[in-house]
Amino acid sequence: MDQTSSPSLPDKIPTHVAIIMDGNGRWALARGLPRLAGHRAGTENLHRIVEACIEYGIQYLTLYAFSTENWGRPEEEVRGLMGILENVIDRELRQLYDEGVQIRHIGRLDRLKPALRKKVLHAVDYTRSNDRLVLNVAFDYGGRDEIVYAIQRMIQDGVKAEEVTDQLISQYLFTAGVPDPDLIIRTSGELRGSNFLIWQGAYSEWYFTPTYWPDFDKEELGKALIEFSRRERRYGGVTTTDRGSNPHAS
Ligand code: IPE
Ligand code: IPE
Ligand code: MG
Repeated sequence: MDQTSSPSLPDKIPTHVAIIMDGNGRWALARGLPRLAGHRAGTENLHRIVEACIEYGIQYLTLYAFSTENWGRPEEEVRGLMGILENVIDRELRQLYDEGVQIRHIGRLDRLKPALRKKVLHAVDYTRSNDRLVLNVAFDYGGRDEIVYAIQRMIQDGVKAEEVTDQLISQYLFTAGVPDPDLIIRTSGELRGSNFLIWQGAYSEWYFTPTYWPDFDKEELGKALIEFSRRERRYGGVTTTDRGSNPHAS
């Protein structure tokens, strides 16, 4: 991207951005539309966000599309959301492939209807050798569910208590091999994590915006990236300046 069109391009770009795509229902309500119209509108910006991530040089994008708790919504809405995922795969797969996007799924597949499960697995398989951007789709995903599943598999594999480490747990999660998210964005003004990447997000920077997901565009993403580039990540340590200015420091 040339400097003139993007004078404020942030200098520190996160490797992995994760987004809680929230506010579709309220976006629709504000327009007197049914909630599903909001969910459909929320798929229209997927492409521009993926393209913007590629332009910014982001390597991993994780999108929270359906949580393990979202099954508790009215049946009609759940059915609608399943149909929307199916349509998005049908509509976008080819273009995502052409753009070099590798699609991965995080979450459970066992509760999806066989036809949808097959579509998801096909999208993953079809794009597996792409490497421009890894797009993790969190669908029927819950952070606690992911940890429970990881523990169950460790026990099944006969992992011994003393072999359990931070790194080993990470390898048993759906995100195995994916670096932890540097930045987690939540749209719609809610200030909570809602069971998203609870292990991986231990040291993520959070960015909250009141913008509803269907209105979140490249400019909004740019604002989040600028904010991220101003953050200082200390991981429990101290800054170089702090250390330098402390006369008692050894
Ligand atoms: C996010 O939008 C999409 C899903 C959770 C599937 P919501 O449907 O939660 O929208 P609000 O929060 O009710 O506005
Ligand atoms: C989180 O949003 C899940 C997704 C965006 C997919 P919710 O709307 O389900 O979360 P709560 O209920 O406000 O915490
Ligand atoms: Mg919501």
